[in-house]
Amino acid sequence: MERQIDVKPGRQAAKKAASALVFFAVVAGGIMIAGPDVAYPWIKSLHVIAIISWMAGMLYLPRLFIYHSDCDPSSDQARTFSVMESRLMKVIMNPAMVVSWILGLYLAWQVFEFQGGWLHAKIAAVVALSGVHGYFSKAVKSFGRGEYIRTPRFWRMMNEAPTLLMIIIVVLAIVKPF
Ligand code: HEM
Repeated sequence: MERQIDVKPGRQAAKKAASALVFFAVVAGGIMIAGPDVAYPWIKSLHVIAIISWMAGMLYLPRLFIYHSDCDPSSDQARTFSVMESRLMKVIMNPAMVVSWILGLYLAWQVFEFQGGWLHAKIAAVVALSGVHGYFSKAVKSFGRGEYIRTPRFWRMMNEAPTLLMIIIVVLAIVKPF
């Protein structure tokens, strides 16, 4: 019987994500052609949809690392966690991060001409968040090789990093305090 962690379902999930990304790109491209006045609310909506998907992965992945760290690296359970982690990263988090950046930079350029202390601080915080994303991506590969580089306690603490950065970024984006 086929199991979800087998290669075929993984390929199907990746194909679905790729077609969603193409659909996103066509819609965003079409809207941008309509000009900034029309595009602004639509692009901002697509931006928020992309960051929600990105954050869902950033908040969930360290939870998987915590439980994965308790497994025997050669067990079926560890294999299941590895497949879950790498699909979350490849099929959801990586595309969502790319779309968040492209649409965020479009808004920053077209609407705000990269002006505003809140926007500079926000971009700095998103660069830090992207750094955490990169660290998680490296960890997915280590776990995939059965190398548990950190303790469950470390991943519990690391879980707070995307949470704190998300709070700072959303307040900067909506309140624009400076
Ligand atoms: C990747 C780099 C990013 C850039 C350059 C960027 C830039 C922007 C810009 C220029 C706006 C429009 C603000 C307005 O219309 O008032 C915006 C909206 C928004 N961004 Fe981002 N953003 C980025 C990533 C993120 C991330 C990672 C999050 C959340 C974790 C986020 C959350 C939001 C929210 C909630 C809004 C809506 C704000 C509102 O309607 O008032 N952004 N972003």
